[in-house]
Amino acid sequence: MEKSRKAFADFVDNAIATANSMRPDELMFSYKGILYPASICSPETFKALESFEARSDDVILAGYLKSGTNWLSQILTDLIAISQKKTLGEESSGNAEEEFPYLEVGDPGKYERMINLPSPRFMVTHLRPENLPTSIFKNKAKILLLIRNPKDVATSFYHFSNGLATLPSYETWDAFFTDFVSKKVAWGCYFEYLSEWNKYVDKENIMTITYEELKEDRALGVKNIAAFFGIPLTEEELQLVVERSSFQSMKKNSEKTHGAFGDILFRKGAVSDWKNIFSEDQNEKMDKVFEEHIAGTKLGKKLKYDVYCKA
Ligand code: A3P
Repeated sequence: MEKSRKAFADFVDNAIATANSMRPDELMFSYKGILYPASICSPETFKALESFEARSDDVILAGYLKSGTNWLSQILTDLIAISQKKTLGEESSGNAEEEFPYLEVGDPGKYERMINLPSPRFMVTHLRPENLPTSIFKNKAKILLLIRNPKDVATSFYHFSNGLATLPSYETWDAFFTDFVSKKVAWGCYFEYLSEWNKYVDKENIMTITYEELKEDRALGVKNIAAFFGIPLTEEELQLVVERSSFQSMKKNSEKTHGAFGDILFRKGAVSDWKNIFSEDQNEKMDKVFEEHIAGTKLGKKLKYDVYCKA
């Protein structure tokens, strides 16, 4: 296994072992009103994050849990590797070798260590904008904001919670749904996440992409992402990134890239799996929440709720 990916898999293995030694009621903690998994996040790390100094050439991927962040991570690390004339799949993404790429995950010392990393540094975050270090916006680091239709996010989140020890597991989908719509899940309420990020979508350093548009046309998505980050691509390079990021090829490669975690992560990779699990009543509830909080916003429109979330 390449070094950077071994570090990723080792980190997840350790987190799972830590979570397995915790009681169910110890798995989550609350920080500024939002729940986080205690096996991988801590108040000390959040405090240290406040003084993280972003660079204008940092490459940041922002996406709520289960929006496809591992998918976009691969696309972005491949694009960075191309910009550095490295061979895809063998490179370190800059910091993946030393640090787990999720910004808020890890020990408080990681931000000091990140000072020594060469540009461009790549990082992912599930945080809402108001909980990110202010230097990210002040220094105009570029952010790719990834969003996915809320019904598939909830469906994916439910299966993930039951597959991964770091999150509380659920006996029923109904119990998970109730927690999902009442802000009792890790990284907080997805609808609040969307409405907070909606305040930032017009900033020049932010590009928004949906999971669904990338599923529809991966080549176009990759091209647009590369253009946003100012990375020139030949036709062959584009094709290579597109091929390597198909669900099938990422799933096949997942033992190498994500270790045992890969099996849980690369589940279906499809649009509309929610139709297999939502009841009528749950559909109505979520439609109502969406309508009340997000429907009229820019991000709400971008999600094409009527196309992807109506039965
Ligand atoms: P499903 O559970 O619906 O299958 P994250 O990486 O943010 O945790 O998101 C995980 C979701 O992204 C999972 O959704 C996973 O299957 C999906 N995913 C991962 N790689 C993908 C790919 N190459 N193409 C499409 N979906 C992908």
